[in-house]
Amino acid sequence: MSKLWGGRFARETDVLAHEFNASLPFDRRLVAEDSRGSMAWARALAGAGVLMAVEAETIVAGLAQVQVEFTDGTFVFEAGDEDIHTAVERRLTEIVGDVGGKLHTGRSRNDQVATDFRLWVMGAIDHLQDSLGDLQTALIESAETNLNLPMPGYTHLQHAQPVTWGHWVLSHFWPLVRDRERLAQVRGRTAVLPLGSGALAGTAYPVDREWLAKELGFTAVSQNSLDAVSDRDFAADFLYAAAMIGLHLSRLAEQLVLFSSAEFGFVRLDDGYSTGSSLMPQKKNPDTLELTRGKAGRLVGNLTGLLTTLKGLPSSYDKDLQEDKEPLFDAFDTLRLTVPVMAGLIRTLTLRPERMAAQLEPGLLATDLADYLVKRGVPFRQAHHLVGRVVQMAEQKGVHLTELTVAELRTVSEVFGEDVTAVFHITSSLSNRNVSGGTSPEALANQLEAARTAIIRKP
Ligand code: ARG
Repeated sequence: MSKLWGGRFARETDVLAHEFNASLPFDRRLVAEDSRGSMAWARALAGAGVLMAVEAETIVAGLAQVQVEFTDGTFVFEAGDEDIHTAVERRLTEIVGDVGGKLHTGRSRNDQVATDFRLWVMGAIDHLQDSLGDLQTALIESAETNLNLPMPGYTHLQHAQPVTWGHWVLSHFWPLVRDRERLAQVRGRTAVLPLGSGALAGTAYPVDREWLAKELGFTAVSQNSLDAVSDRDFAADFLYAAAMIGLHLSRLAEQLVLFSSAEFGFVRLDDGYSTGSSLMPQKKNPDTLELTRGKAGRLVGNLTGLLTTLKGLPSSYDKDLQEDKEPLFDAFDTLRLTVPVMAGLIRTLTLRPERMAAQLEPGLLATDLADYLVKRGVPFRQAHHLVGRVVQMAEQKGVHLTELTVAELRTVSEVFGEDVTAVFHITSSLSNRNVSGGTSPEALANQLEAARTAIIRKP
């Protein structure tokens, strides 16, 4: 097996050790980034007077052919190909001859892989930004159609105060705004060019790194070659952003699992996003939601795995760093499916307003009753206590809060007057919360508008 670094070795690598060492099975997906990086490097070498312009162009054409062979599936790997970098260079040299051997001048796989990987992460972020934007659009559409539809709001999963469907659905929109901001920040930190750092000490040829950065879409060049070949902060940042997306989607999924259960019945999942049971003919299971909830686990696992690998590493390259790629590939592949599946599920969701209405029991208005007393001068703490007694009285009489007569209410507090019944409406509870971020129709319309603006403004 011929190796790119075989000169000083008298014996071949052990077969299992070769397999252990190789990253080709997973890093082959960096082929496009590797070729792009090498094309730019060849031209930078020509700019530095290391290659003749014609040599650089021969290499660029050869690399283009390697890429074609990859896309049409005719690229043949050889036993000695250790990783994508060695495979591409080996094939390039077969195509263009000896001049291919000049490409690696002044470069190392250390600055090469760091460059490739950053390019890949930038592309992955661009893809996720678009698909998250589409999921946000689906949530906005759902909010638009049922902005003021009342439903019970929960804390501790107990009936709390009335909210609306629009308010609830947008509560899952804003976390995604933060996720997209986070991704944009990660992209900014990723777009720093390591190429030109060589193995660890910088390249000995006068390549124009600023030109390279521009050519490859980076916005800055690294300032320390030792740091540049070992910095994987961008990878950890990406995994944190991915874990947060997974976590946010898992919360949305969990709530929809509950809402689609027979007990709640607030929503009906479309058949296209549900599955049946192999045993129980009546079952319609929310598998897509459960998987979304479950996938958050592997996303968090990818993050903790990489952080553990990076901990304690000296600056400059160590082979441990080869462990950086699989968690990111897995995180991206996970979200590449999860996010659009969730968007489709939201778009096809059927709401069941009658089931929501059935749960809008008057107990949800207890706070409004306390607010009634406050507006008539009772300190809130005392009002809270008095309404607590009203609730107790209703319970003892076996009636709803709103079924108590004014006379009965007045046995608890003289402050209750005939106008108290005005409080006993879900819609007045909603519209009383007219603060920004609240449940009033006006506040909700403003929120919806803000959501539309947030989605148009690219992070
Ligand atoms: N396959 C390696 C990786 O993914 C490329 C860099 C190898 N560098 C080295 N000095 N062996 O990290």
